[in-house]
Amino acid sequence: MYDVQSIRKDFPILAREVNGKPLTYLDNGASAQKPQVVIDAITQAYSMEYANVHRGLHFLSNLATDKYEAVRGTVARFLGAADENEIVLNSGTTEGINLVAYGWAMPRLEAGDEIILSVMEHHANIVPWHFLRERQGVVLKWVDVAADGSLDPQAVIDAIGPKTKLIAITQCSNVLGTMVDVKTICAEAHERGVPVMVDGSQGSVHAPVNVQDIDCDFYAITGHKLYGPSGSGAIYVKKERMAEMQPFIGGGDMIKEVTKDGVIYNDPPMMFEAGTPGIVQTIGMGVGLEYLMNLGMENVAAHEASLRDYANAKFKGLNWLNIQGNAPGKAAIFSMTLDGAAHAHDISTILDKRGVAVRAGHHCAGPLMEHMGVSATCRASFGLYNTTEEVDVLVDALELAHELLA
Ligand SMILES: Cc1ncc(COP(=O)(O)O)c(C=O)c1O
Repeated sequence: MYDVQSIRKDFPILAREVNGKPLTYLDNGASAQKPQVVIDAITQAYSMEYANVHRGLHFLSNLATDKYEAVRGTVARFLGAADENEIVLNSGTTEGINLVAYGWAMPRLEAGDEIILSVMEHHANIVPWHFLRERQGVVLKWVDVAADGSLDPQAVIDAIGPKTKLIAITQCSNVLGTMVDVKTICAEAHERGVPVMVDGSQGSVHAPVNVQDIDCDFYAITGHKLYGPSGSGAIYVKKERMAEMQPFIGGGDMIKEVTKDGVIYNDPPMMFEAGTPGIVQTIGMGVGLEYLMNLGMENVAAHEASLRDYANAKFKGLNWLNIQGNAPGKAAIFSMTLDGAAHAHDISTILDKRGVAVRAGHHCAGPLMEHMGVSATCRASFGLYNTTEEVDVLVDALELAHELLA
């Protein structure tokens, strides 16, 4: 039984008021709030268990190292990876995708080689590929989404040509909530010898993930959207791809030996983790993932699906409200505009007065905004602790915005 009221009590911030109203936090797509267990883990790590990892021989360093390293196994379990050595710990999806761009793609791709992207990628899954376009003449091929925001996997497959070297695609749009059938894309792409990198920054938050079942080559996640601390994350790298990767950031920890003449690198995945990592952030992420696994990601997905359906039914009554894309099976993420010239920033300011936190702007998705023909939207993104009552609060606040701005 998914008891959302008791789950809400795990998140202290949800009890606060904003602008004299109870907080209605609908900006989970940007970052999620933290349960007390994560906050406690951070406090415990800094107050009783802190030292640098990997290099000390003293008690606290060993303790911090054990706690930090245990998270590799936790991430592997959360993602259904066969081996924890396929997990590179990092600061988030942005770093994960840059590792693939610099460590795997840059040394392998030549001028004229192609990378396929969808138009609904986040800038984190666009800009690193533009680096390759600018610096070595790699060609970016874009796949459009349909009018309802859905992405036909066949359109991605059809874009594959003899020069295609990688598909880099999101599992879930941070703007539209569209879920992408990445499993079909991986199966078909592999038939044609093309690896697939999945941006799981949003997908991992809203539904269970099994990277072995998806059979992707890379799968990037970010801790702060998974109810963990900011500055934490990980990327799953399939063993074969890991063996093909070159180190990206150089420094301590990713080496076995350094002399004046050269470097002997550490074994993977450590080879891809240079410098002092986000020790406490990573430990906190591990606790956040355990929290999610205890709730059960299928249960989280079912709860969010019921919020999505409830919200869609409510939105139907608002004939001045436009939801950008509403693909079947999408996550509970709604990008909204109002009829008339109301700007997303003004809408979100009015919502804020009612204690409703949403995001307004381009959502780091320039090509999608261009495709939709809008410069900004107001995005309400739901999380595991949101309720149908909060949908009602949102609808009331939107009605006020419509009244004031129409
Ligand atoms: C789909 C998607 N990809 C990548 C990112 C980047 O994540 P981070 O900033 O945590 O690295 C985000 C964050 O909003 C996102 O929504």
